[in-house]
Amino acid sequence: MRCAIYPGTFDPITLGHIDMVKRAAPLCDKLIVGVARSTPKNVWFSPEERVELVRDAFRELSSVEVKTFEGLLVDFAKACGAGFIVRGVRAFSDFEYELQMALINRKLAPDVETLFLMPAEEYGYVSSSRVREIAALNGDVRRYVTPKTYQALLEKIQARHETRDTPRRSAAGG
Ligand code: COA
Repeated sequence: MRCAIYPGTFDPITLGHIDMVKRAAPLCDKLIVGVARSTPKNVWFSPEERVELVRDAFRELSSVEVKTFEGLLVDFAKACGAGFIVRGVRAFSDFEYELQMALINRKLAPDVETLFLMPAEEYGYVSSSRVREIAALNGDVRRYVTPKTYQALLEKIQARHETRDTPRRSAAGG
């Protein structure tokens, strides 16, 4: 069985990621979307929330499985029996970083290949952090995310506002 991993932080999943999965899924028997649990990024969504949104996005794609992972990506790939890692290259600027990551992964695990795919042009500039930034500034991100993710973003922003607006008690009890 030909199995592949599409890894990422997915904070949150965008239509760009979904486009990548739809391109990659027909190339293998099973595509595992690997959601990185820990990340140096300042994430908005917990691993469980990110997984839930990713699962919802692919609920109709039977060959797509969603799993979280921790530690090295190549170890996760091997544990899943995946022969290759799929990464999207949106612009030339992605390439150097992606090449570095692919070559390091190859050194770590020579039998796991990295496959680069190009997303649809309309998603060539989309990233999760841009989506979060626009949403936080009350911009409309519905063209970049699923309705469920849009709703989750609104709720997250609302929760952030409430935390920010809640007056803190001073040490004097005020
Ligand atoms: N559509 C939309 N956005 C896309 C995209 C696409 N087709 N392709 C990439 N992106 C976005 C991602 O959403 C992400 O946006 P953000 O920075 O705003 O969150 C960005 O482009 C790519 O970020 P990057 O950090 O390269 O990837 P990632 O967050 O998707 O995942 C891991 C990185 C998890 C794959 C990587 O850190 C990893 O392998 N970690 C495990 C530890 C390990 O093995 N390290 C050694 C590897 S060298």
